[in-house]
Order: sequence, then structure tokens, then C-alpha cells
Amino acid sequence: MASTRTPAKHFSPLAIGAPEPYRALPVTLERMIHFVPPHNEKIRAKIKELASQVDVVLGNLEDAVPLDQKENARKGFIQMVRDTDFGSTGVWTRINCLNSPWVLDDVTEIVANVGNKLDVIMLPKVEGPWDIHYLDQLLAQLEAKHGVKKPILIHAILETAEGVNNVEAIAAASPRMHGMSLGPADLAASRGMKTTRVGGGHPDYGVLADAQKDNPGAARAFYQQDLWHYTVGKMVDACLAYGLKPFYGPFGDFSDLAACEAQFRNAFLQGCLGAWSLHPSQIEIAKRVFSPDTAEVKFAKRIIDAMPDGTGAVMLDGKMQDDATWKQAKVIVDLAKIVAS
Ligand code: GLV
Ligand code: MG
Repeated sequence: MASTRTPAKHFSPLAIGAPEPYRALPVTLERMIHFVPPHNEKIRAKIKELASQVDVVLGNLEDAVPLDQKENARKGFIQMVRDTDFGSTGVWTRINCLNSPWVLDDVTEIVANVGNKLDVIMLPKVEGPWDIHYLDQLLAQLEAKHGVKKPILIHAILETAEGVNNVEAIAAASPRMHGMSLGPADLAASRGMKTTRVGGGHPDYGVLADAQKDNPGAARAFYQQDLWHYTVGKMVDACLAYGLKPFYGPFGDFSDLAACEAQFRNAFLQGCLGAWSLHPSQIEIAKRVFSPDTAEVKFAKRIIDAMPDGTGAVMLDGKMQDDATWKQAKVIVDLAKIVAS
């Protein structure tokens, strides 16, 4: 896996039968990447049931795992993967970051023991393509040594200012790249943003409506804005340019399901294919948000039917359709097909 990834020409990672070199990317639903703490025995005992409810199970070895549980988390993950038939559910792990004392053992032990059952390694705090090159080579060596049959893919977390700055080079770094997730908590810290939240908005980040000319003293509306709009957009562009899958990351306020849904929906509309679920209550939200709306699918099918060869211009319900809206419709119809399969 030495070469870099080449730009994708008019390619959606959802396209079934996509051209090489992207065919290697799995065309699977990954609406929620569900985080589990593998050092927790009670969670491990319920993993089979949990796995049947989600698209991806991720054993988290990094942040949120106490220092004295790092080894247990790794061992617990290996045991959990070994003992469980995950069926079609994706099996991922988030390893520790590359400058930590645990990461080498994370990668070597996991690939040696369960490399053939592991789909994706999520790499935190990626700062540039050099991080991906290192993990790429290490995986290539370990896969060869242990006879791993299919390449383990890499998913980068975009969560440092330097990483955002290098996002395109990270996307291009290796054909092993699966996608990227926004990591709003670490990114906020890295950028010096003044928030203690994990994703979501902030009550003070917004735009004040103009004063009314005829009533300048009247209360003015304040419209809260999406703090993550710029970064999600930048990440989506870099991912799609190289045939990767973009994801929104975590939403930390488990008590505010409506705000979680709003954040996930913004990401979905901007092009993301899924988000992390850190709490069971977020699983259904992700499933709902990242599956296309039935009315939208119906309309998209009408566009495709009205333009069988995808060219020309037609009117549907007073709305102009042409080659570009046909492509938009195809994104929605392709996603609906994967959800239905
Ligand atoms: C996720 O890892 C984040 O920092 O938001
Ligand atoms: Mg983080």
C-alpha cells in the first residue's frame, strides 16, 4: 500500500461498482460508529446484542479509557472480537495516538490476534500524511507476518489545527484510507476555541439580526450558528475528492437529543455518511438521520425516471431538473438501496 490515493473523478463513495482503485472501499452502511469501552466486562457481555443494533462497533482504546485500564481495554477488545460473531456489523478500533506509550502494542497485538476480523483502525490526532504513512507501513508488515487476508483500512480523526490544515494531504496519503471523522472536542482545544462542549453549538456563537428601522429599541433576534460548518465542509471536500467517506464525530450532551439530531442532520446534509454514537440513545438518532427521508427518495426516483439517460431538462412539480439534479437524485437513491439491502 505504498502509493498515494488518486483524486476521484465524479465518484461518490456510495456508488455501487465504483471504478478502481476505489472498489476496495466497502460499500456498507456506517450510519453510526458505536463506541464501546472494551475494559468494561458488563459491556463485553452484551456485545452481541448491541452489535445487532448498529452498523459499526468500535472498541475505544484512547481518550475516556483511564490510564490504568489501557492494557485491559486492549485485551478486552481482542477477547471480545475473538469470541463474537459480528455478522455484517463492522468491527473497528480507535487506537491510542502515535506519540503515546500504548500505540505500538495496540497495533501489533490487535493485528496479530484478530487482524482477520478487523475492518478499520481509527487513528486519533492525525496531523499530516506522515502519520498515515507510518501506520500504513506498520500494518503492511503486520498483515504480511500474520497472514491477514484483506487490508485493514485507516480512518483518521480530524481534531487538530495542523490536521485540518493538512486535510487534503491526509486524504491522499494512502489507498488504505477509509475516511475521516471530525473530532470537535480535541479540535476546539487545539484551536483555542472558548468552549468546553463536545460538539454542538454554543449559545454565544451566532448572528444578531439587524435592528428594526422603525423600532430601533425592539428586541433583536439572535440566530445561533453551527460552529463546525466550516470544518465539516472542508473535510467533506477533501474526502470526496479522494473517494473517502466523511463522518461527523461525537456529540457529548446525552441529555439533549434534539441538539444531537440537529448536529447530525447538518452533517448529513453537508455530505457526511454517519456519526459516532457514544450513548445508546444516539443510535436511533443516527439511524434516522443518516437514512434518506422516504419523501426525498420518492422524489429522487421520479427525477431518475423522468430522465432515463441522465441528461436534458424536465420540470417536476414546478422545479427544474437537469443533469446535475439527476446526479443529486442518484446519491439519494443509491443510499436508499444500501439501506434497503
Ligand atoms: C473526539 O475524539 C474529539 O476529540 O471530539
Ligand atoms: Mg479526540
